[in-house]
Formats: sequence, structure tokens, C-alpha cells
Amino acid sequence: MRLLVLGGTHHVGRAVVQAALEQGDEVTTLTRGVSGPPAPGAQARHADRTDPEQLRAALGDDTWDAVIDTWSLAPRVVRDSARLLSGRAGHYGYVSSRSVYTWPIPPRGDESAPVVDGDPASADAEDYAAAKRGGELAVTEFFGGPSVLARAGLILGPYEIVGRMPWWLRRIERGGDVLAPGPRDRPLQYIDCRDLAAWLLHAAEAHLTGAYNAVSRPGHATMASLLDAAVAATGADANLVWVPPEVIEQAGIEPWTELPIWAPPDGEIASLHDGDVSKIYAAGLACRPVAETVADTWAWLQAEGDPPARPGRPAHGLDPARERAVLAGQAGSGATG
Ligand SMILES: NC(=O)c1ccc[n+]([C@@H]2O[C@H](COP(=O)([O-])OP(=O)(O)OC[C@H]3O[C@@H](n4cnc5c(N)ncnc54)[C@H](OP(=O)(O)O)[C@@H]3O)[C@@H](O)[C@H]2O)c1
Repeated sequence: MRLLVLGGTHHVGRAVVQAALEQGDEVTTLTRGVSGPPAPGAQARHADRTDPEQLRAALGDDTWDAVIDTWSLAPRVVRDSARLLSGRAGHYGYVSSRSVYTWPIPPRGDESAPVVDGDPASADAEDYAAAKRGGELAVTEFFGGPSVLARAGLILGPYEIVGRMPWWLRRIERGGDVLAPGPRDRPLQYIDCRDLAAWLLHAAEAHLTGAYNAVSRPGHATMASLLDAAVAATGADANLVWVPPEVIEQAGIEPWTELPIWAPPDGEIASLHDGDVSKIYAAGLACRPVAETVADTWAWLQAEGDPPARPGRPAHGLDPARERAVLAGQAGSGATG
């Protein structure tokens, strides 16, 4: 394929570029050049996409078999790209999000669950759910060809700049008693960026259309298999102390952000790990084992160091003093394991 990646230097886009080059595709990337070059072998073009004239100049008169768009901010930027590439690209893949579903996401919700309002012409990037939905509508309304909306949930794997798995790995590297949010067998649902990339390329080749929840099956990993993999990858002298969800709640610790990746089994956010993914599995998604995702994320951190903090975004992770206070309360409860 002749593939255009709008983005291509961060987590998902980077994995798309890598996978496409490995399968022999001809890859063009479009970024500002702020985040560094794409993988060697890709042709890098530079423009600020928020300026349609810069985008037009950078893309010239070229045509592509497929475009994959990683944009997450104002929808009108997706609209301008979709309009410009209409008739010049054979397929448009948009990296969307399960955040487009109205909150709370229904347990086992599939792609027919209600979505938030979005406006493809909007310049607003503050409301993430509306921005992603606006991006979806921008693609379906302004790209005059087949398009796919990959509604990703939690994305892990190397180059994860949000800092969820990196936080757990660094915490476990420090060793000692580690607050492990229970239950141990809590099913998790996520996607490795490389598995998402492979599926996006497949979707482009097969000209798949429509929306797909893009995550693993619930229980592809559990909290225990994830954290055990982190202990194994780091080789740290860490002791996971399993703490029940009600104790974490009583301590006022925020799931998902203070304890990244974790959501308790009950309550509004439980469904973050419980979406219906029959459609994407029937359409070829394959998810690698959690141990590989964790080990490769650790290898990346070892080789390249921690990603810089994202400006204006809260850091993930638990304050050590808060962790110690909860663990002190658990002493003698037999929760070690
Ligand atoms: N992380 C998760 O758990 C999660 C979950 C669900 C969905 N998602 C979605 O997954 C996608 C993640 O994409 P990603 O990993 O590839 O990372 P990203 O951080 O969205 O990548 C941004 C890319 O766009 C380029 N860029 C930024 N501003 C630009 C501009 N004004 N003009 C041109 N290029 C620009 C950046 O390069 P330069 O800076 O060099 O320009 C970079 O290559 C997002 O759409 C997000 O909404 C993420």
C-alpha cells in the first residue's frame, strides 16, 4: 500500500508506521516535526494541520491507497483533512475512542450504544468525548469513500506517553510492598498499540467500514497477570499486597488515575474493562499476551528513558505516602501474594 499517516511519531501512529514498513508498504507521515522523525524508511512531510493551506501544500497532488489519522483535538482539523483527501485516498482510518459513548458506558456495550453529540466543524478540543465524536463525523461526512472508526479503549505498549504502564513499572522497580488493587482476578480490557496498528492496516487493506470497539476481550489479562508480568519484567524485589476495592475506595484513592489501568469491578467505571468486542474479533483483531506488552514497554523505558510529562495533563500514579498509609492499615490482613 501507499499509506499516509497523519501523525506517526507517537504511540499508535508510530506503531502503524513501523508495522506498515515491516510489511513492505510505502509510508508517508505528516507532522509538524516537533516530536522528531518517524521510523527510518518513512517519508516525512511537515505541516501544521490546523492550517488547511499548510496541509494542502505539504500533501501536494499525491494520492494514497489509505490514510490513517491519529488526531485527538479539534474535529475541524479532521474535517479539513478528510475533505482534502477525498478522492485521493482509497480508505480513511480514524483512531477514535470508546469515550464517544455517553457516560456511563453500558456494561457489555457494543457499537450501537448511544454516543455523545459531536460537531465536525468544531474548533473545541477541551471536551475530549465531543472532540472524538466530532472527528468521527468529520470522517464519515467529509471523506467520500470507505472509512473505519477504531474506537480504542485503554491503549498500552511501548511509547505509551500517557504514563499508565510506565508508572506501574517504575513503582514495581522501586520494590518493597506494592499496593496491588484487587481483586487479583479483575478482568482487564485494553489493546497493545501494535495490535491496534496491525488491525488498522488490515482494515485499510480490506476496506472495512463503520465503527469498531478496538480493545481486547475482557479478561485477556487480569490485574494479577499484568502486575506479575511487571514484577517479572523488572526483576524487582517487589511484594504485591492485594488490597480489596472497598479499602481503596475508603482511602479516597481514585481508580484509573491514581491507580492507573485499574477500575473496581462495580460502579460507573467498571465498564471501561467490559465492552463488547465481538465485531472487531470477527474482523480479524488479534491481541498478543500481556507479558509481551509489559516486557516490551519495560525494554523501551530501559532503552530510551521515561517520556516527558504531557503539558496541561495530570500525571498518573499514587503518592508514596498515600500508598504507605493504606498498606499500614492492611498489615496482618494476609493480603500479601
Ligand atoms: N492513550 C489511550 O489510552 C487512548 C485511548 C483511546 C483512544 N486514543 C486515541 O489514540 C490516538 C493516539 O494517537 P498517537 O498515539 O499516535 O499519539 P498522539 O499524541 O495523538 O500523536 C500526535 C501526532 O500528531 C502530530 N501532530 C500534533 N499536532 C500536530 C499539528 N498541529 N499538525 C500536524 N501534526 C501534528 C504529532 O507530531 P508533531 O508533534 O511532531 O507534530 C504526533 O505525531 C489519539 O487519537 C487518541 O485520542 C488513545
